[in-house]
Amino acid sequence: MPTLAKTKSKPAGAKPTAELKQHIGGKWIEGTHERVVESLNPADTRDVVARFKSASKRDALAAIAAAEKAAPAWAKTPAPQRGRILMKVAEIARRRRDELAALMTREQGKILSEAKGEMDKGTTLIDWFAGEGLRFMGVSAPSELGDNFLYTIRRPLGVASIITPWNFPWAIPVWKTAPALVAGNTVVLKAASQVPAMAVEIVKIFEEAGLPPGVLNLVLGEPESFGDTLIEDPRLKAVSFTGSNAVGQHVHELCGKRGAKVTCEMGGKNPVVVWEDADLNLALGGVMKGAFGSTGQRCTATSRLIVHEKAYDKFMAMILAETKKLKVGDGMDPTVTMGPAIDDAQLKTDLDHIALAKKEGAKLLCGGNQLTDGDLKHGYFVEPTIFEGVTPKMRLWREEVFGPVLAVAKAKTFEQALELANDSDFGLTSAFYGQDMTLAMKFVDGMDAGMVHLNSPTIGGEAQVPFGGVKGSGVGEREMSKEGINFFTELKTVFVDYTGQRRQSNLY
Ligand code: UN1
Repeated sequence: MPTLAKTKSKPAGAKPTAELKQHIGGKWIEGTHERVVESLNPADTRDVVARFKSASKRDALAAIAAAEKAAPAWAKTPAPQRGRILMKVAEIARRRRDELAALMTREQGKILSEAKGEMDKGTTLIDWFAGEGLRFMGVSAPSELGDNFLYTIRRPLGVASIITPWNFPWAIPVWKTAPALVAGNTVVLKAASQVPAMAVEIVKIFEEAGLPPGVLNLVLGEPESFGDTLIEDPRLKAVSFTGSNAVGQHVHELCGKRGAKVTCEMGGKNPVVVWEDADLNLALGGVMKGAFGSTGQRCTATSRLIVHEKAYDKFMAMILAETKKLKVGDGMDPTVTMGPAIDDAQLKTDLDHIALAKKEGAKLLCGGNQLTDGDLKHGYFVEPTIFEGVTPKMRLWREEVFGPVLAVAKAKTFEQALELANDSDFGLTSAFYGQDMTLAMKFVDGMDAGMVHLNSPTIGGEAQVPFGGVKGSGVGEREMSKEGINFFTELKTVFVDYTGQRRQSNLY
C-alpha cells in the first residue's frame, strides 16, 4: 500500500523530497485528485523520497487522449528512427546509472549492488529493442501458385497501457515501454505509487532522448483515484501488466470482455531441486540469491526448496550457516546484504505468512521476526526466514509471500521431487542442481514452468530470450526477445497475385 501523506520528522542530513507531477502530452501537470501520495524510503520512513497529487479519472483520460493524438505520427516515423531514440535512451541511462541506482535504493530499498544490476539489465533490454527498429520485419513466403508473392507487414496497435509494479522500478517499465515504442505504439505508463520518483526519471530520459510529446505519458496515483480507466478505455488497444494475481486476473477479465490484447505477468512460487550429486556450493549460492536477493520481492524468487534426502542434512546446515551471515539493513550501506520490505503492508504480509506457517505445523529453522533494533526500527525489516517440513497442503507451499521466506521439503526419488516441484498453482521459473544429465533433462521435460534453470538460480532473464510463465503465473504473450515485439504488433498478410493466377485456381 502506498502511503498517504503524513510526513514525519526527517533524519539529520536527509535528502529533500521531490515534488512530482503527471506527464501528459509532453507537459508536467499536477494531478487533479485531492489525494496526496508519498513514497517513503523503506529503510527509514522518516525520509520522504517523493510526493505527488494523485491523477484523477480526468487526468487518466487526458493521458489516453494525448497518446491517441500522438499515435499516427509516431506510427509513421520509420522504425529504425524509433530505434535510434531508444539507443539514445540507453546512452543516457548508462551515463546516469549510478545516480539512478542510488535513487532506486532510496525509494525501493534493494541493496545498491542489486539496483546497479537492475539498471544494467534494463539498459541491455533497451539495447535489444533499439536494434529491433532495424529488424522490424515480416516474412515472405512461397505461394501455392506461380506468379504470386505472399508477405506480412508488422503494424503497431495504437495506444498501449503499461501497468508496472514496485519491485523493479527501472527494468520492468523499460522492458515493456521499449518494445511498445519501437513497434510504433504510443504509451500511457502507470507506475506503482511506491516508486514514482524512478518513474519520473524514466520519462525524463525518454524526453531527453528526443521522444515527441504525447508518445509516452505517465500517470501516477492509486487506482482508487481513477478506477479501471487504464484497463477498460476502448482507445487502449493493448494492456501490459506485471503485478499480483488478483489484479492480473481483473485486468485479464476486463480486457477479454472488450477484446483488447492483454498480457499479464503475475506471481510465482518457484522451486529449486537440489539433487544428491549436486555441487552443493553452487546450489548454496543459487538458493541464497534466489530466496533472499531483493528481499525475496521478485516473482522469480526461489520460495520452495526440495532437497534429496541424502544431501539434506549437509545442505541445510550450509544454508543455515549462510543465512545467519546475512546482514539486514539499509541497502546504501555496502556491508548490508539484504534490504527491507517495500512497505508496511508487505512487511505485515511476510509476518502473517510466518505466523500461519508456524500454526500449520511447519518447523521454523531460522528468522521469523521483524527487526527493530537501533535504526532498523525506522524501516520495514524482517529476518531471512526458513521453514522445513513444509507440505503441499500448507499455505506457505501454495501462496506467494513476496518476501524472504523459504519453504523446504525433502525428497526420496526424482519422481517425487518433480511431483513436488510441479505441485503448485504457479509456473514461472524453476531450477535443478545436479550432475546427472539424464535427470537434468528429465527435469527440463517434466517441469511445468515458463523457465527452467540448470545449475543456476531461478531469478533473472536475458533480453534476447522470452520471459514469462504458465499456469497462474501468466497469461498472454511472453516478454523480452522477439516475442516482446509480437505482443505490441498486429500482422497484416499481403497476397500479391501479379498475373491473376488465383482467379483461375481452385485454391481456397
Ligand atoms: C528477474 O528475476 O530478474 O516482478 C526479473 C518480477 C518479475 C521480474 C523478475 N517480473 O519479479
